[in-house]
Amino acid sequence: MRIILLGLPGAGKGTQAKILTEELNIPHISTGDILRKAIEDKTPLGLKAKEYIDKGHLVPDDLMINLIKERIKRKDCREGFLLDGFPRTMPQAEALEKISTIDKVIKLKVEDEVAIERLSGRRTCKKCGAMYHIIYLPPKREGICDRCGGELIIREDDKREAILKRLEVYREETRPLIGYYRKKELLTIIDGGRSKEEVIKDLLISIR
Ligand code: AP5
Repeated sequence: MRIILLGLPGAGKGTQAKILTEELNIPHISTGDILRKAIEDKTPLGLKAKEYIDKGHLVPDDLMINLIKERIKRKDCREGFLLDGFPRTMPQAEALEKISTIDKVIKLKVEDEVAIERLSGRRTCKKCGAMYHIIYLPPKREGICDRCGGELIIREDDKREAILKRLEVYREETRPLIGYYRKKELLTIIDGGRSKEEVIKDLLISIR
């Protein structure tokens, strides 16, 4: 199955994508994770992407489209994949259509206030990327990753100014994709503002 997960920053796409892709045994392709790894490795893509990401802006379409083209060509995508964070603009959606068919587009719907609260409280492990939330998913020891003992940090783009910018960019660039996929009769909307367990239950029903 080829799935796109859409939703505001902080809607819970990454959290749910991890569970869903394990269940379906397909790769979880998170463009945000790929870009953060490129930044850490100081690759040419990472060096270009960093200034956009830190400010809450989108990385240019041509870079993102090439990245996805390469990624979904790989063998592990033959039986399907889940895209988390792509497409994010109309040109990206149109380019994707030329590269692959899509079976389902799921939007996790949350209010702005929920997204802001989740992103402001998110903590990410510097070493293994595991994600926590100071209220909803706190680590056992403050500031330390349960999984690997790494340091928990606040992502540069989880600072207030960048969060507000990301929400604005979503409204301008990504929201039009909802109508686009609705017209193609691929869209399902799920209330992402509930607990993690309630959301995954509905997600699993929607893909069966
Ligand atoms: P990316 O990493 O994709 O960021 P995002 O879309 O803004 O999404 P987030 O990871 O912030 O949120 P999420 O919805 O995955 O929520 P999560 O599960 O983490 O992209 C980062 C940047 O890269 C972009 O801003 C852009 O610059 C660039 N980029 C990436 N793709 C691009 C593209 N295609 N084109 C151009 N640029 C691109 O959850 C958030 C928090 O909430 C966590 O702490 C979690 O524990 C908590 N939480 C999750 N679910 C629940 C729940 N149900 N109840 C309570 N807490 C919850």
